Amino acid sequence: MAVSVCRRAHFNAAHRLYNPKWTDEKNQEVFGKCNNYNYHGHNYELEVWVTGEVDEETGYVIDLGYLRDVIKTEVEDRFDHKNLNLDTEEFKNLIPTAENISIVIWNKLRSRLENKFELKVRLYETPRNFVEYGG
Ligand code: NI
Repeated sequence: MAVSVCRRAHFNAAHRLYNPKWTDEKNQEVFGKCNNYNYHGHNYELEVWVTGEVDEETGYVIDLGYLRDVIKTEVEDRFDHKNLNLDTEEFKNLIPTAENISIVIWNKLRSRLENKFELKVRLYETPRNFVEYGG
């Protein structure tokens, strides 16, 4: 029987939503405040959901300690207290919207999990604005 388990994590990061192919006017029109030239920050809340069979020997779907360590290495160590546009390779040429951040995070975590697991991430940019990606 498949069970879903979740680990929550947190990171702070700055970003600017800006499409270099567009004029300043168009960027302002589309992205508004999120296009602020000097960047702005968010307190990102991340939920990582892993679904799989309960292991008969451990009673676990996945060791949440392992999941915590993977999230720390792949997400927190890379993105916490960073300017996503300036400090990270991932978003040098990718607009750091919550949508794109969730896809980047999902790909990183997916590569660290066995194929037998189903993976879904939910990323809260604010308590009211959040996105979900499951591959
Ligand atoms: Ni923003």
